[in-house]
Amino acid sequence: MSADTKALKKNNNEPLSRESLAELYKAVREFSHTLAEPLEIEDYVVQSMPDVSPTKWHLAHTSWFFETFVLSKALPDYKPPNPQYAYLFNSYYVLAGERHLRPKRGLISRPTVEETYSYRNHVDEGLLQFMENAGDKEWRDLASVIEIGIHHEQQHQELILTDIKHVLSENPLHPEYINKKKNGRTANTTQELRWVAFEGGIFNIGHQGDGFGYDNEYPNHKVYLNPFKLGSRLITNAEYMEFIEDGGYETPEIWLSEGWSSVETNGWIAPLYWQKQNGQWTEFTLSGLRKVAPDEPVTHVSYFEANAYARWAGSRLPTESEWEAAASNLEKDGNFVENLNFHPLSLDKSSNGNPLKQMFGDVWEWTQSSYSAYPGYKTPPGALGEYNGKFMCNQMVLRGGSCATSKSHIRKTYRNFFPADARWQFMGIRLAKDGE
Ligand SMILES: [Fe+2]
Repeated sequence: MSADTKALKKNNNEPLSRESLAELYKAVREFSHTLAEPLEIEDYVVQSMPDVSPTKWHLAHTSWFFETFVLSKALPDYKPPNPQYAYLFNSYYVLAGERHLRPKRGLISRPTVEETYSYRNHVDEGLLQFMENAGDKEWRDLASVIEIGIHHEQQHQELILTDIKHVLSENPLHPEYINKKKNGRTANTTQELRWVAFEGGIFNIGHQGDGFGYDNEYPNHKVYLNPFKLGSRLITNAEYMEFIEDGGYETPEIWLSEGWSSVETNGWIAPLYWQKQNGQWTEFTLSGLRKVAPDEPVTHVSYFEANAYARWAGSRLPTESEWEAAASNLEKDGNFVENLNFHPLSLDKSSNGNPLKQMFGDVWEWTQSSYSAYPGYKTPPGALGEYNGKFMCNQMVLRGGSCATSKSHIRKTYRNFFPADARWQFMGIRLAKDGE
């Protein structure tokens, strides 16, 4: 196993079989095309803010990843369609070479969208050829890297959706990514928020080695938790509107200092994509502008807003260990991207079973945990070691996945992370309290 392979895949599982990996590869690559299908050609190139990348860039960058970390190592005579693509489509891998400036990705009109799809085909042909013909040693060296590349592509599929949402939201014509006026459930289905109590004790946190995991989920370790309670469901738009109407955005004492600065600097008065029209809150969705549905989970709030809401509500946000301990016995069910809703759904009133609802899918749940290394974590060597470890500063952990996340991508141990003022992902709120 190469150093780069060890970098991200810390468990000792055998890689998937060639056939399984090839099928998974083809399905995931194809799903990127499915997500891009509703777009017009002009949509592919726009970058609406530095955090957002154009769809064309995502499609090319994920191909560059396979080209750089698999094909260039696997096939000695591999030739990229254009050697300059490495400069254009490397994201942040310093050890992989010089790269183009992130905020300027929207200025790149060439390669064209058609050429970008040709690039994808070129890489796919190489990958499938390698998967079919590799010798055993080459396969052992690179199968795990291919698996990482597949998960990497799924991460970028989520970004394709959240980035194009931001792009389209900037257009006064309020274009629809997809017409889904009837998604969601009927109104007034909110279940009363209950508190689900958990006993304290010692819990195993982190990946145990069963299936794929990123390096930042390792090593599995023990954590002592005091008794705690989690809110039985996500916070709804109606509940968040109460916070707004009660002056939540005008009450500095419930905000973190940096959060209050963000409110003042950015003029925040509501979640991203909300605007008031004729006294009524509307929100931009991937199906255009519509009235805010009271029973849907609130989304596109920053950590600062989630934290202020929790303080206003007399509670707090969960730690990531509390979230993971609470999720340990749950099925991984929820509103994921495969459901093609592209929006969080209100809770089904008939939903029964486990008292904890909406833990997976719908919206990423902000935790009060800073994104940092687990005890015993070592930054892996090589360029692929830059994937997660170097971001362990000034970001907060989110758990559970969203309506833009693939079900096959998310895990109970999965640690997403974003800066505290980020709002353009599907980010929402679950409350927690200290137990007795
Ligand atoms: Fe990437």
